[in-house]
Amino acid sequence: MKVLVTGGAGYIGSHVVQLLTERGYQVVVFDNLVKGNRGAVHPDATLTVGDLHDRAALAAVFEAHQFDGILHFASQILVGESMQRPFDYLRDNVYTFINVLERASLAGVKRFILSSTANLYDAPKRVPIRESEALIPGSIYGETKYMAERLLAWMDRLYGVKYCCLRYFNACGAHPDGHIGEAHDPESHLIPLVLSVALGQRPAIEIYGADYDTPDGTCIRDYVHVLDLARAHVLALEALADGESRVYNLGSGSGYSVREVIEAARAVTGHAIPTIESPRRPGDLPVLVADSDKIGRELGWETEYNNLKTIIQTAWNWHRRHPNGYDS
Ligand SMILES: NC(=O)c1ccc[n+]([C@@H]2O[C@H](COP(=O)([O-])OP(=O)(O)OC[C@H]3O[C@@H](n4cnc5c(N)ncnc54)[C@H](O)[C@@H]3O)[C@@H](O)[C@H]2O)c1
Repeated sequence: MKVLVTGGAGYIGSHVVQLLTERGYQVVVFDNLVKGNRGAVHPDATLTVGDLHDRAALAAVFEAHQFDGILHFASQILVGESMQRPFDYLRDNVYTFINVLERASLAGVKRFILSSTANLYDAPKRVPIRESEALIPGSIYGETKYMAERLLAWMDRLYGVKYCCLRYFNACGAHPDGHIGEAHDPESHLIPLVLSVALGQRPAIEIYGADYDTPDGTCIRDYVHVLDLARAHVLALEALADGESRVYNLGSGSGYSVREVIEAARAVTGHAIPTIESPRRPGDLPVLVADSDKIGRELGWETEYNNLKTIIQTAWNWHRRHPNGYDS
């Protein structure tokens, strides 16, 4: 089975590409390498360097290969930035997505996996959050994912494309052997930021808000390991053979506060990791935890990485070996 992976040189995409190649899939990665890294792409995958804005480049890759499925990771990913530069995000995440969908429909591709997000749940009535919760994007970034989910529903109706939207909560960790990992620039995610303090690259970690209505006053998030995410993608791709489109939350089901993450990172790294308490950031919810029972029930997915220290240890292996990302 041959699949196209857009954004396969990025953090999550590269871990999924590795698992797909291990499972015998033929993988073509399409990535502009603006945020991704050549070194993150598994050597058995074919890397095509190109931009999804470039319709001719996209047409060429579909002419060169007959794809059985598409996994779409390519996206701008920063919630805060999307509120500063809304039109860039709409162009980069929605226009490019339309280009991919058009090519997919012309080529008759019937299986599609979308990287979606917990940022669709900005006003949850119940936590842990189920897929049936009202979809209220918390940012322009979230809105672009909402639009993408809606467009996939139309692709199913118009062309019989079967899709799976995977709404990730906080992706984290790295491949345990430390050869691929998280290398965002700029970095906005808590665990790599905390570990950069342990590496001496930052003096302290900022805690945005210590007065939330949570046990220790800091925000609680659901950290799901990137290899658990990767297995969910392969399961979802295989499940689409039954002709049913679906939507799943992907989280660990456990919430950890900012302080708990910092404490676990201190234990893993042996570093003091100083903190600075700063005001709340607008838009941050106190608690975001997934109910991922649906994918467990329907596809048998369960997380292998349930221990926060083990998760942080995998990230630490990567960051210690690659203090400056893939250029290290
Ligand atoms: N990291 C998380 O915690 C998280 C949470 C929820 C959802 N997601 C979603 O998961 C997906 C992957 O996230 P990530 O953390 O791996 O991000 P990433 O930035 O590491 O990877 C994105 C990849 O897409 C590529 N790309 C972006 N725009 C492109 C374009 N126009 N043409 C070609 N390539 C392009 C980048 O070069 C990069 O390699 C994204 O869609 C993101 O919205 C991530």
